[in-house]
Amino acid sequence: MIPVRTYLTPYQVDELALRGKTVAVIDVLRASTTVIAALSNGAREVIPTPTVEAAAKIAGHLAGDVTIRGGERNGKIIEGFSLGNSPLEYSGERVRDKSIVYSTTNGSSLILRAKYALHTLVCGFVNINAVAAFVKANASEVEILCAGNAGGFALEDAVCAGMLVHLLNEGEDEPLPMSDATLAAHSLYRGYYKNILRMLRQCEHGKFLDGLGFADDLVYCAGVDTVPVLPFLDDNMLRLRKVNGHRESVAAPATV
Ligand code: MLT
Repeated sequence: MIPVRTYLTPYQVDELALRGKTVAVIDVLRASTTVIAALSNGAREVIPTPTVEAAAKIAGHLAGDVTIRGGERNGKIIEGFSLGNSPLEYSGERVRDKSIVYSTTNGSSLILRAKYALHTLVCGFVNINAVAAFVKANASEVEILCAGNAGGFALEDAVCAGMLVHLLNEGEDEPLPMSDATLAAHSLYRGYYKNILRMLRQCEHGKFLDGLGFADDLVYCAGVDTVPVLPFLDDNMLRLRKVNGHRESVAAPATV
């Protein structure tokens, strides 16, 4: 029985209160999904940064030939960066064996706010069962952090949090103890689970990205278990956990 606490907006997050906890960070559109895609396609690591300036500084200290900068502001590529924030840009060809210095509006700084946690996992719809399986096998309680949008509530992150709660509940005799925010997220999931893509096309940030021409990103971000890997924050860098020297990819169960 794993108690679940959900933070529907980043404001509520107290970094020190996360010490020793297992944390799942959710930014469906698009930071979580892009990080998962980049590492699944062979990037060595993704280095989240809170600001564009910090990204420039860190990139300046790393070997130029294996380092690229990726990220967005207002949904668009940042000047001087090699990649924007579309998960479709982070192909094996572009990112294999590269270190990606990464900065986005909401997701990258929220990931860093979980740096004191015992386990910090990056979660989206694309790897949701991999996250649920890890939490069930390794955690006594879990904190779900939703990136939201400019500090406010984002429907897509809450629905994803609700789906994670649904999966953690599976196989339990009693429903998990849930905070009100967790209950609300679970109810939203039950309202939208039949058509995740439609939900992404209806939510504020989804419409904004669609307007910028990123309609294909919504399709990619709506995939469930399509990229079953598990990014961890390790020494302020996101990497895939290695098992017996191999990058771990977690097989998704047959049904969701
Ligand atoms: C963010 O971190 O704010 C988002 O990922 C932004 C985006 O990709 O549009």
